[in-house]
Amino acid sequence: MPAGVRSGETVRGLLSREREGGRVEVRGWVRTARHSKGVSFLEVSDGSCFAGLQVVAAPELANFEAVRGVKTGCAIVAGGELVRSQGKGQSFEVQADAIEIVGEVEDDYPLQKKRHSFEFLRTIAHLRPRTNTIGAVLRVRSAAAHAIHEFFQERGFLLLHSPIITASDAEGAGELFRVTTLDPSEPPRTEDGSVDSTRDFFGREAFLTVSGQLEAEIAASAFTDVYTFGPTFRAENSNTSRHLAEFWMVEPEMAFCDLEGDMDVAEAFLKHVFAAVLERCPDDMAFFAQRIDKTAIETLQHIVDTPFERVAYTEAVEILERSGRSFEFPVEWGLDFQSEHERFLAEEHYERPVVVTDYPASIKAFYMYANDDGKTVRAMDVLVPKVGELIGGSQREHRLDVLERRMAEAELDTDPYWWYLDLRRYGSTPHAGFGLGFERLVQFMTGMANIRDVIPFPRVPGAAEF
Ligand code: 4AD
Ligand code: MG
Repeated sequence: MPAGVRSGETVRGLLSREREGGRVEVRGWVRTARHSKGVSFLEVSDGSCFAGLQVVAAPELANFEAVRGVKTGCAIVAGGELVRSQGKGQSFEVQADAIEIVGEVEDDYPLQKKRHSFEFLRTIAHLRPRTNTIGAVLRVRSAAAHAIHEFFQERGFLLLHSPIITASDAEGAGELFRVTTLDPSEPPRTEDGSVDSTRDFFGREAFLTVSGQLEAEIAASAFTDVYTFGPTFRAENSNTSRHLAEFWMVEPEMAFCDLEGDMDVAEAFLKHVFAAVLERCPDDMAFFAQRIDKTAIETLQHIVDTPFERVAYTEAVEILERSGRSFEFPVEWGLDFQSEHERFLAEEHYERPVVVTDYPASIKAFYMYANDDGKTVRAMDVLVPKVGELIGGSQREHRLDVLERRMAEAELDTDPYWWYLDLRRYGSTPHAGFGLGFERLVQFMTGMANIRDVIPFPRVPGAAEF
C-alpha cells in the first residue's frame, strides 16, 4: 500500500490482537534503531499507545543496506508477518518483508535516546509529542476530554459554545487581553485624547474571554443543565507552575440548583473522569507512576473510592491557625488562601480532596450568592493535593437587587452586563455552576510538576512560540 494511503491499522490495535499471524503494515516514526551485523531492530511508534511495535529487518530485504541507515525519528512503513516476540515486555513484533523509508531524518534531530529536561523539551514543542512523557500526557489529556463530554452528555447537559471575544469581564478581576484592529502607533482619538474605541473593529472595546460562565448562565436559563468546554485567557502576570495565560476550562451551569447540588455534581464529575482515565489509559498511567509520581494511580483510585471532605472557609482558617505551621503567607479571616494553605488542607490535614465553601465576599467575584450573614458568599473551591485549587464555583446571585448592590460595591460599570441583569428580571431561578481548569486536572492526574508540560503549546508571560 502506498505510504499516503491509510492502512487503518494502529500499533495499539496490532499489539492488542489475540493471536499472531497474517501480514500487517505498520506506519510511524522510529523511536530507537539497533543495527547489528545480520539484523536491524526498529521500534516504531504511531502515537496510538504508549508502546511501540518492534520491526525486525533481515538481510533478505531488498533495501537492507538503506534500512541499516534508519535512525531515530525516521518515518517508515513496514510490512510483514506479525509474530510472537521473543523480547520481554512485547507481545508481538513484525518480521519485515518490506520497509519503505518515507521521511529521512537529518543528523541534528534533537530527540535522542537519552532523557531530556522538560525545560529543553519546551523549546522544541513541535517535536516533544514524540517523547514518552509528552506522548503519554497528551493521550491522557485526550481521554480526559472525552470522559468530560461523556459525563455531561450522559446526564443530558447541553454543550454550549460560548464566545471567545467578549465585551464583559466575567470575573470582574481586570485580567483581560484586549482585542483590537486599531493601529497601535496611531489610534483614532476622541476630543479628550483617549483612544476612540467606537472606531475599532467591534465599535467598542473587546477582549478575550476569561470565562464562559456568564453566557452559560444565559443557556442554563433555557436548557436547565449546560456546560462549556473551551479556551479562556488571563493576562495575569503569574509565572508559576500552575498558571497559563491561555488555558481550557470546563464550566457546567445548572438552573434550579443550589451550592449543595453544585458540589455533588463536581464530586461525581471528577470521580467519573478519574475512573475513565484509569480504565482507558493503563499504560500511560503506569508510566507516570513509574517515572513521574509514584502515587499517581493510587491517588486517583483513592479519590474515586472515597467521599470528598467539605468545610466552610471560616473553619478552614481555624484549622490553618491551629496547625502550628509557619506559612510563608499570613492566615487571617478575610485573606484569600495561597497555594501553600490549599495544599496543607488537602495534602496533609484531610489527605483527600476538600471542598471549601462560603468564602468572604470581598475576595470572590461579584456574581456569587450573598449569604444572610452579610459577610460571606456561597462559593466553593475544590482543593486537591499537590495542585491546590482544581475547581472554583458558586451558587449565583439570582436576586436582581442584591446583584446590583454587589456590582456597585465592586465598582463595576453595569453597562456591559445589561443582559446579565436582564436574566434576573425574566424568570430568574436559583442556579449554580463551577469551572474546572482542564490543565490543572491533567497535571493532577499525571503528576507533572509544571502546567506548561500538560498543554501542547503553552502561552505564558514572555512566551508564545509555536
Ligand atoms: O476560579 P476561577 O477563576 O473561576 C471562574 O472562572 C468561574 N467563572 C468558574 C465558574 O464558576 N463557572 O477559574 C476556574 C478554574 C480554577 O479553579 C483553576 O483550576 C483554573 O480555572 N484556572 C487556571 N488554570 C490555569 N491557568 C490559570 N491562569 C488559571 N486561572 C484559573
Ligand atoms: Mg478561583
